[in-house]
Amino acid sequence: MNELAGKHIVLGLSGGIACYKAAELCRALVKAGATVQVVMTEAAEQFMTAVTMQALSGRPVFTSQWDARTSGGADNNMPHINLSREADAIVVAPASADFMAKLVHGRADELLSLMCLARPIESVPLILAPAMNREMWSHPATQRKPMAPPCSTWARANRPVERPVTAECSSPTSCCTT
Ligand SMILES: Cc1cc2nc3c(=O)[nH]c(=O)nc-3n(C[C@H](O)[C@H](O)[C@H](O)COP(=O)(O)O)c2cc1C
Repeated sequence: MNELAGKHIVLGLSGGIACYKAAELCRALVKAGATVQVVMTEAAEQFMTAVTMQALSGRPVFTSQWDARTSGGADNNMPHINLSREADAIVVAPASADFMAKLVHGRADELLSLMCLARPIESVPLILAPAMNREMWSHPATQRKPMAPPCSTWARANRPVERPVTAECSSPTSCCTT
């Protein structure tokens, strides 16, 4: 039995070159039988169009906390609440260094970080796939977040793998789950 069949996944994209890989991830999730709701930061839209993600997911993409469209059954016009409550899991791929820093500090100045902060922490797991170049990854500021104390109680990192993303740089990526 496919564990993803019938699951509702919110797929968040923050700004990084690896946004192009989110298109394939979205396709794979849909193929596996999940419904996928895409949420993108403003920076992510520089790397991947919402139109592409909309076509692959088959659902309108959310990019703004001020967007009063309903995302599913609820009609309270608050996407950050509805999107996170409807999800079986939130996957942020790619998670930028900036986005992870926001999570650690509980910042919520746009829809994706706001939704992560507002999610029911006990029932909706948050899975991060950080992607950045070696220097950004190994910077003490990044290493502190969100895998280090005090956040280690809610996030765990697997060992990063290093893969070429562009011709110029390779990108360590890892996976943290709550
Ligand atoms: C060409 C380019 C490539 C970038 N690639 C990455 C990346 O791979 N990982 C990353 O963490 N930031 C990367 N950045 C920086 C982020 O896009 C930037 O920090 C942005 O503010 C992140 O916003 P967000 O976290 O709200 O999505 C890149 C910036 C540019 C201009």
